[in-house]
Amino acid sequence: MTAQSTQTKPPRNLDIVILAAGLGTRMKSRVAKVLHQLQGRPIIAHVCRTAALLDPRRTYVIVGHQADDVQTAVEKELGQDQVSQVSFVKQTEQRGTGDAVMAARDALAGANSITLILSGDVPMIRAETLQTLLREHIAGKASCTMLSVRLENPTGYGRIMRDGTGGFLKIVEQKDATEEERQIREINAGIYCFDTEKLFRALERVRPTNSQGEYYLTDVPGILREDREQVTIYQHHDAREVSGVNTRAELAEFENLLRRNAVRRLMLEGGVTFIDPSHAYVSAEAQIGRDSIIHPGVHIEGKSLIGEGCEIQQGSRIKDSRLGNRVMIKDHCLIVDSDIGDDCAVGPFAHLRMNARMEERAVVGNFVEVKKSQIGRGTKSMHLTYLGDATIGADTNIGAGSVTCNYDGKDKHPTIIGSGVRIGSDTMLIAPVQVGDGSVTAAGSVVTEDVPPHTLVAGVPAKVKKKIKTSDK
Ligand code: UD1
Ligand code: CA
Repeated sequence: MTAQSTQTKPPRNLDIVILAAGLGTRMKSRVAKVLHQLQGRPIIAHVCRTAALLDPRRTYVIVGHQADDVQTAVEKELGQDQVSQVSFVKQTEQRGTGDAVMAARDALAGANSITLILSGDVPMIRAETLQTLLREHIAGKASCTMLSVRLENPTGYGRIMRDGTGGFLKIVEQKDATEEERQIREINAGIYCFDTEKLFRALERVRPTNSQGEYYLTDVPGILREDREQVTIYQHHDAREVSGVNTRAELAEFENLLRRNAVRRLMLEGGVTFIDPSHAYVSAEAQIGRDSIIHPGVHIEGKSLIGEGCEIQQGSRIKDSRLGNRVMIKDHCLIVDSDIGDDCAVGPFAHLRMNARMEERAVVGNFVEVKKSQIGRGTKSMHLTYLGDATIGADTNIGAGSVTCNYDGKDKHPTIIGSGVRIGSDTMLIAPVQVGDGSVTAAGSVVTEDVPPHTLVAGVPAKVKKKIKTSDK
């Protein structure tokens, strides 16, 4: 999701509770719902990141189903600073949302704070919206302020019932609602601010006397109202933002929406051409420079940075990589954790990985794999080649079918090739080995020993034939 401005400072005494202990039965999965991926990261991570933007004293994530996995996922996604602000609290049995909040009682019950409650399955919520909710809560001197929204189809949600004067009366869950109550379109988003002490005192009085036999957090606002406490509703306009992910169909809709937003922003603000925007996949963190052209079926993932005037042809996937300006990526390339300089060309069907680096004007062509290697300026490797643990100088040509034989079955070894070198087709370079500037290997050579500069080698294993005259550049 995009970076969010924090115009007004949130209150200092803010604690956040994120409910994430449920399995999510409607996902029909063995994997806990909040671990399913949205835009390449677990649903829960989106909520935790947004929570961190509010700068709370502490965030409590209530975990239960696959607790360890959820904890690991959150720790992996948040920065060190943010992780130190988060505590994980175990809800041993999933007896409802009220019971889930109760799991944090020991940590919070006596706190002189505001508790903001979020659902781990509502990933699109924005920090600005939560700040507005907090402001309303403080301005209204309320014990509870809940976020509501009006839906065309409110099925499944808790309905907000109002009294004769429009004030809050109570929340009725879908499964407990009468036919008449189900007509109500205003629903509880499951996002609330509470006075912390009052929240926990009211939670003590919640009973599981409902159709699901659960302890409902949604009973708390009603209890507070009966105690003549101030209970306020903040009605939000954007239903999508506060919708929960309950099924895989909803998850796919969210994914689609976020993807469309990212692509639209790049077209309108970034000056990027998408040949078919509905078939382009760009992460929220990726950046693409103006006048770049993205063909259908392209995935740009993670923190990728694409320069200006690039062209990325169909079926290519680029992850956590940097492309300079005017780079051409032909059809069906996979580029991961790599760096490609200005005016380079890659593909079709090339694979760059583990810090492959190409300097300006280098070319990597059909069916070439480059791993942990550096390719110098203007150097070309056009066909059917493996370059692993190699360092190659400028303006060298690597012939078709050549291989840096970097692995001896136990260890990986480097190959160093100079500038202005011509590696003949089907040369096997048995690492560790070096080929000096301006040297030539004949087709089919097997190079087991270092080749001095300006030398032609040939044969199996390759033997020195004669001294030659070439330029180094
Ligand atoms: C809940 C609300 C409903 C609201 C909706 C908004 C209740 C009783 N109902 O319903 O009024 O309209 O959210 O999205 O609160 N969880 C636990 N432990 C539990 C049960 C749930 O941690 O024992 C967590 C889940 O993992 C989930 C969140 O609480 O992240 C909400 O639970 P869920 O079962 O999805 O509640 P809804 O039926 O959607
Ligand atoms: Ca839900």
